[in-house]
Amino acid sequence: MIRRRDFIRTSVACAGALVFARYSPSASAESSSAADSQIEVLLGEPLGIISPNIYGHFVENLSGVVYDGAWVGRNSKVPNVNGIRKELIDEMKKIKPPVVRFPGGCFADSYDWRDGVGPVDKRPRRTNFWDGGEITSAPNHHRYDPNQFGTNEFVQFCKLIGSQPYLAANVRSLPAEAFYRWVEYCNSPTGSTTLADLRAEAGYPDPFGVRYWGVGNEAWGCGGNFTPQEYATEFRRYTAWVPGYKQELSFVASGPNSFEWDWTRGFFEEIVRKGKGQLRSIFGWALHYYSWNLSRGRTQDWDQGKGDALKFDAIDLYELLREGDKMESLINGHWQVMGEIDSEHLVKLVIDEWGPWYRPGSGQTAENQLEQTPTLRDAVFSGMTLDIFNRHPDKVAMAASAQLINCLNSLYLAHEDKFCVTPVGHVFQMYSAHQGGQALRTIFSAPTVNYDRDGKPASFWGLKGSASLHDKELVLTVVNPHVSEARVTEIGVRGASIRSGTATTLTHSDIHAHNSFAGRNVVRPQTKDVEIKGKVLTCTIPPASVTKLSLTLA
Ligand code: AHR
Repeated sequence: MIRRRDFIRTSVACAGALVFARYSPSASAESSSAADSQIEVLLGEPLGIISPNIYGHFVENLSGVVYDGAWVGRNSKVPNVNGIRKELIDEMKKIKPPVVRFPGGCFADSYDWRDGVGPVDKRPRRTNFWDGGEITSAPNHHRYDPNQFGTNEFVQFCKLIGSQPYLAANVRSLPAEAFYRWVEYCNSPTGSTTLADLRAEAGYPDPFGVRYWGVGNEAWGCGGNFTPQEYATEFRRYTAWVPGYKQELSFVASGPNSFEWDWTRGFFEEIVRKGKGQLRSIFGWALHYYSWNLSRGRTQDWDQGKGDALKFDAIDLYELLREGDKMESLINGHWQVMGEIDSEHLVKLVIDEWGPWYRPGSGQTAENQLEQTPTLRDAVFSGMTLDIFNRHPDKVAMAASAQLINCLNSLYLAHEDKFCVTPVGHVFQMYSAHQGGQALRTIFSAPTVNYDRDGKPASFWGLKGSASLHDKELVLTVVNPHVSEARVTEIGVRGASIRSGTATTLTHSDIHAHNSFAGRNVVRPQTKDVEIKGKVLTCTIPPASVTKLSLTLA
């Protein structure tokens, strides 16, 4: 039974109607006396169309992500469609996944795509890039890649869930020729090349039509340990005269780690030494940013600085959000540096690895390297991050949470026949409503969160979110980071009035709440109609919550 205190804590309540153009956050005559916050959506200030690809995913051949996660095998007792976990397919269809990145990550620069095509019983076993991090009890297929899930299987997975494939090529350990052949295998017309015949023999006569290609991954590290200048030279060579087979090819260059401005500047300066026209060969600049340092400024050590996914206090929640909120300054900062050379901004940002990264040990399946169990805190983090992307539709063309299943910031956890949707998965379902919408500038005004950061005062914003318009339908998502205070919020739309709507909220009375195989529905969204009466739409946004308002405008 839900207690009254918990009900108030976990339930969004909205009432009232906002007559448009009469709303003013400062007009006290129209304000509810209890309100402490305002949100104003500006219909007249469009920011650009939100690319559906911002809601992308990442599947790396890493520990339990592919084997036991997405792939259970054709002969498995676990319900599957040609070897792919059926429950995953069914759940993913609900979130409108636009694009999936594969096979890595660091794995990509050790992978030979040719090992993963042709008859399945003849495919070689290879040492997985992640072998060194596997624990003793890890299953063999985590250490030694059986190559049962290769290009054909991945592309079928994408087709089943309605996604586009985004393949990452190996730049560190394979020549450019292998990259061209992979494009040929995927895209050359039926009967045209030996590789098209090989594809047809496997049962896929029609070209896969793969548009998105990553040219390596983290070229500053596991992707070749290059300088930005060296990598720019490699990028030019790998992407020069790649046969397209009438399929538009969009190349993503390996961009910076977090705040490495010099990587961005160095690459762009070098790439245009052959002329500014080179910029036209780059679709996206991949930025990777993980939020991992919860040491409150005590250390920069990658292992020492991490926090725990399940054991944390309110300050850890705020600190994680502060780390994640830096995404906005990263987008603005790298965009500015790119603009020093790419003044027309032909190249867009592709944030194809993002999410919190905790210390090991919180996964549902102990043998899965890098698996962590997402809580309500991670749902709030993910809502905040997706809102940041929505606010920059002119800059961010594509993104991918790392990673889809059985890993960091995962939407799903699975082991054998067990499966659950995490709070992060629910956020993706809620936010899918933003895809393809016209982003609108929105003003949020709320009391800040104030807390004690080891004896020093610290603060964080009180409410933030994003808005998008789809004809007469407005989608407004709002994050309340405060762990104990609800925000009574007046919501206005400058330029229209609100006819009707619903409010969907994801929250829980416990910030540590999470879903697991035994408790699949501990954290799940609740939807209610918005009551329209009077002149002001006032919503109580619960603490530690993510809310989506779907409003029909008149
Ligand atoms: O997502 C895990 C790893 O993090 C990826 O393989 C790599 O690109 C990044 O460093």
